[in-house]
Amino acid sequence: MKICFITSECVPFVKTGGLADVSGSLPVALSGSGAEVKVFLPLYDTIDIKIYGIEYAGLPPFSINIGGETKEFELFSRRLNGVEYNFIDCPHYFGRGKVYTSDADENERFILFQHAVLKVLQYQKWQPDIFHCNDWQASYIPALLKLQYSWDKLFEKSKTVLSIHNIGYQGIFEPDTVTKAGFGESSFVLGGPFEFNGNANMLKTGIYYADAVSTVSPTYAEEITTPEFGAGLDGVLKARKGNIKGILNGIDVAEWNPAADELIPFNYNPDDVSGKMKNKAELLKAAGFAGGGDVPLYGIVSRLAWQKGIELVLEFFEKNIEKNLRLVVLGSGEEKYETQLKKLASEHPEKIKVFLEYNNKLAHLITAGADFFLMPSRYEPCGLNQMYSLNYGTVPVVRKVGGLADTVTDISDKENGNGINFAGFVYDEFEEAVLRSLELFKDKAFMSSVMKRGMERDFSWKKSGGEYIRLYEEILKS
Ligand code: ADP
Ligand code: GLC
Repeated sequence: MKICFITSECVPFVKTGGLADVSGSLPVALSGSGAEVKVFLPLYDTIDIKIYGIEYAGLPPFSINIGGETKEFELFSRRLNGVEYNFIDCPHYFGRGKVYTSDADENERFILFQHAVLKVLQYQKWQPDIFHCNDWQASYIPALLKLQYSWDKLFEKSKTVLSIHNIGYQGIFEPDTVTKAGFGESSFVLGGPFEFNGNANMLKTGIYYADAVSTVSPTYAEEITTPEFGAGLDGVLKARKGNIKGILNGIDVAEWNPAADELIPFNYNPDDVSGKMKNKAELLKAAGFAGGGDVPLYGIVSRLAWQKGIELVLEFFEKNIEKNLRLVVLGSGEEKYETQLKKLASEHPEKIKVFLEYNNKLAHLITAGADFFLMPSRYEPCGLNQMYSLNYGTVPVVRKVGGLADTVTDISDKENGNGINFAGFVYDEFEEAVLRSLELFKDKAFMSSVMKRGMERDFSWKKSGGEYIRLYEEILKS
């Protein structure tokens, strides 16, 4: 089976969040199970081509007309772990010093990207069985294939899957986005596939035209068909219910494995967690805390976005700062959260440390060194950090929502509990959950068994990779 996987970010080359982790590990898993996989992503100027051995593919420059203007791009590539990575190089659009922008031509950047993928495949005469499109940055592809490239026999048998990693981001732009992408003016019909509240909405278009729509956990697949979680697209999704598959993300167990992790000072495993205490000591040192191996330590690694429920954390530590506990936060994002976290840390430097940066090595140390990991998300399509934490024996305290509900079982289930969860996005419920974690910390034997259970669960792509293959096979048959 030939799979063309289209994504706006991908580990190890470029990452802002979990989509990059998934794009880095799922294609490798698919290739491992016998598929031929090409991954496409933009060549942002933040990607260091020398470090990653990315090379000019030697093809002549391509050109594309976007809204009456001709834009050129070239192809770069790199083979790694059985996967061919194709990079669309268009400095005009991707030389902005960051992955996503709020520039007026943000829509054009990903219109070029998507046309470019199809143009390169035409040049290479490579015939995908499946186009696996991820998020709004790739969600015009199904419509492009059906409405603009249908003349080309090359794509005649190809089927499309759209994976929604986060319905909070839909690619909503001015109506002329539709014509810039080459669709006829008449396709912008009120209530139609291209229109949403008077604007263009790329994700909505993808949901209409994809042969299958998937999302990254079974619970989120249900949630997004409701007004509370659907971000305005619940109606559209409901119309194709049954066709929306929830496949839980896996994690890259080569990168996130406490027994082999090269980014942490001490390795450990479920049978001997002594290394974890040593990592905690290193983390305490890095945070500038004095001693305190026996004080419960909470960790957070997160984009600081509305989605992540940082308000609850701020309120909890403001109200409970006199208790015997500590917090280390690593994150970056919205200024309001950065400012409030910084303020809290400056008022209580002996208990709270905040790193406002992106730092993969520190993310690994926090995951390994903290006792508990906080993730009180308003919504969470899947969430990877709770799975990393479980793998590292760091007990997650999470809201029971989306993928968090599918991976964290509360310790009120004495046999199966691997973490602590709370239901409503309400302060009192979060507070009760954190207070329960403090009680758990005191019960050493129970705490050890909860940690061990988390560490022993298999979060690798073995199962989920197979589920994607089955989904591909299903639509290829239909
Ligand atoms: P989301 O994609 O919504 O941000 P996920 O839990 O799926 O949430 O994935 C987030 C990924 O980004 C994880 O791999 C996490 O470790 C990483 N990450 C987030 N913020 C930072 C940061 N400041 N430094 C390092 N890694 C980070
Ligand atoms: C998104 C979601 C996150 C998910 C990730 C990868 O960014 O917010 O929950 O784990 O995509 O699918």
